[in-house]
Amino acid sequence: MKKILLTGINGQVGHAIAAQLLQQRITDVELVSCTRQQLDLSQTEQIRQVIRQVKPDLIINPAAYTAVDQAETEHELAFAINATAPQVIAEEAARLNAALIHFSTDYVYDGSKSSAYLETDAVNPVSVYGASKLAGEQAIAAVGLPHLILRTSWVYGSYGKNFLKTIIRLAQSREQLRIVADQHGAPTADIAIAEAVAQLIERWQPLNPEQTGIYHLVNRGETSWYGFASEIMAQYQARAKQQGWPALMLKELQAISSAEYPTPARRPQNSRLVSDKLAQVFGLSLPDWEISLKRVMASLSDVAY
Ligand SMILES: NC(=O)c1ccc[n+]([C@@H]2O[C@H](COP(=O)([O-])OP(=O)(O)OC[C@H]3O[C@@H](n4cnc5c(N)ncnc54)[C@H](OP(=O)(O)O)[C@@H]3O)[C@@H](O)[C@H]2O)c1
Repeated sequence: MKKILLTGINGQVGHAIAAQLLQQRITDVELVSCTRQQLDLSQTEQIRQVIRQVKPDLIINPAAYTAVDQAETEHELAFAINATAPQVIAEEAARLNAALIHFSTDYVYDGSKSSAYLETDAVNPVSVYGASKLAGEQAIAAVGLPHLILRTSWVYGSYGKNFLKTIIRLAQSREQLRIVADQHGAPTADIAIAEAVAQLIERWQPLNPEQTGIYHLVNRGETSWYGFASEIMAQYQARAKQQGWPALMLKELQAISSAEYPTPARRPQNSRLVSDKLAQVFGLSLPDWEISLKRVMASLSDVAY
């Protein structure tokens, strides 16, 4: 029997992983899933206590400080949750000879590369959030336990707050939307991540040191935020009648530059990540992003926000 401790189950990825593992009902897995209240990553002692009590074989840590703009003024809290907590989790896991699956981000890169990033490319975060996530990766690696660090990008799904749901909500109430068109990456569905994690649990051999390390985990293909919004609108229109969804007010999606949409935190212009390593080591690849978007759209129960 393998015992898995899962953090942040009210987040997009945590919620999707919990749902996936429960749905699969893998008989030799016992899942202990925690909300922020049950396991607060800003509380070092609580992290140690919970892990010592649960004694997991595997910890999956999707919980994170994800307020990218707010992090610019909450440096300490962002680092406590995204850097110190993963270090403590890794230390406690190592004490138990347990393994760790942790999540990281495209924001560890500065986005200046002209082609898609490989795991071996130089990191250089341009935001506090990115720097805090990188510090978390480095802390885990320094502890030296069996681990997978999964760098993903542009996460969305039917649960929680995300770009997909914001665009639908705004398109229902506004005639015009201005969307950044000069940042490129892969929208990645929470359910695609969760399915991959479920397969990794079966395929990963933590005792094989060659499998430990950093992996990109993103849906295949690429687009801009503008391209993502356009596809969301197209798929919404295609389904609206059949699903009984409200008509959209939106008449125009306008492509703008990042300079026209200033934010407290800088974002990489290029967030494209090559996921070949995941395919080579584990035989895993995620579908095209438009395909996963269709699945998520089909699962939206309530689109009248
Ligand atoms: N979202 C993206 O676009 C994106 C892109 C690249 C990488 N990632 C990474 O992917 C992972 C999953 O992201 P996500 O989209 O699922 O994020 P999310 O939806 O924002 O969920 C984050 C979760 O972390 C929890 N959390 C925050 N502070 C906490 C604390 N002090 N103690 C315990 N839990 C805490 C939140 O709890 P509450 O529910 O109580 O607030 C929430 O459940 C993260 O590591 C993130 O850095 C995300």
